[in-house]
Amino acid sequence: MRRAKISIIGAGNVGATCAHWCAAAQLGDVVLLDVPQTEGMPKGKALDLMQASPIMGFDSNIIGTNSYDDTKDSDVVVITAGIARKPGMSRDDLLGTNAKIMTAVATEVKQSSPNAVVIVVSNPLDAMVQRAFQVTGFPPARVVGQAGVLDTARYRTFLAMELGVSVEDIQAMLLGGHGDTMVPVPSCTSVGGIPVTQLIKPERLAEIVQRARVGGAEIVGLLKTGSAYYAPAAATAQMVEAVIRDKKRLIPCAAYCDKEYGVGGYYVGVPVILGTGGVEKIIELQLTAQEKADMQKSIDAVKELVGAMGKIVG
Ligand code: NAI
Ligand code: 2OP
Repeated sequence: MRRAKISIIGAGNVGATCAHWCAAAQLGDVVLLDVPQTEGMPKGKALDLMQASPIMGFDSNIIGTNSYDDTKDSDVVVITAGIARKPGMSRDDLLGTNAKIMTAVATEVKQSSPNAVVIVVSNPLDAMVQRAFQVTGFPPARVVGQAGVLDTARYRTFLAMELGVSVEDIQAMLLGGHGDTMVPVPSCTSVGGIPVTQLIKPERLAEIVQRARVGGAEIVGLLKTGSAYYAPAAATAQMVEAVIRDKKRLIPCAAYCDKEYGVGGYYVGVPVILGTGGVEKIIELQLTAQEKADMQKSIDAVKELVGAMGKIVG
């Protein structure tokens, strides 16, 4: 049986760590690509990772490259290319540089892997995934952004820490843009089946939501040289797995919404069913008036960002 082919564009912290999770889970063969200026860096990381396989017991082939020829006909392409945040920078500060990088990368992906499901990770996420969609011209179901899996993982971690329970028992759903404007949905958050609102007082829950919202900045502040990558890469690998293994995971992803949630043709974080076809269904939740207002604020922020990106040529 042919193994799935996963190409990861951008062999930096998130890209290389995602390659690690994908290989360890034996999701398929992995191609790690970076720009020619990085010379042997992707090859070195790929070889290093391959040499872990006899110890860890995985059979994936991992290659590093500077050429899109090696990515030809990938089943899944993950895009992590671009610059990351440093202290004091917001995700939106990355827009000018990363929009140009995304155009270049998506143009190549369109040629080399015309049937792939594309998972965008580069920031500012909601704008970058829109650009990848515009440039590839792929059906919206086959271009999806990673943000919600990470944001909910952060939220679930903080809830587990607060309650002293296993993270496995925490289910949560967050909507909207990545990070700062994300929208918690308490009616979809439970601990061992118990609504979270029965376990944590509203004021404390609001503090935990806020910590998850700025979870990326907390890590940037600690690392000082870049942004988070273990959890972002694990979140991305979970999406890769959903596609490759047709898992039909119901998870929050940045998906193209037109009539859904009244968005009107933008990518925002919503619950989706993710399988081999990419975003196979968008789930529309019944929101309270407050959640609807918060969601609209988040959608407006995404629209503003995409509007600003429209002025960036290249
Ligand atoms: P990094 O700086 O470690 O790696 C980025 C890599 O992209 C570098 O190796 C660079 O050479 C490469 N690159 C730049 N231009 C390229 C091009 N045209 N083609 C191929 N590769 C290119 O950064 P890191 O930490 O891996 O983050 C990558 C991106 O992911 C950033 O934009 C970051 O903000 C974003 N991010 C998004 C998250 C999310 O939840 N959506 C979470 C974490 C990071
Ligand atoms: C994060 O949330 C930087 O978007 C990245 O960690």
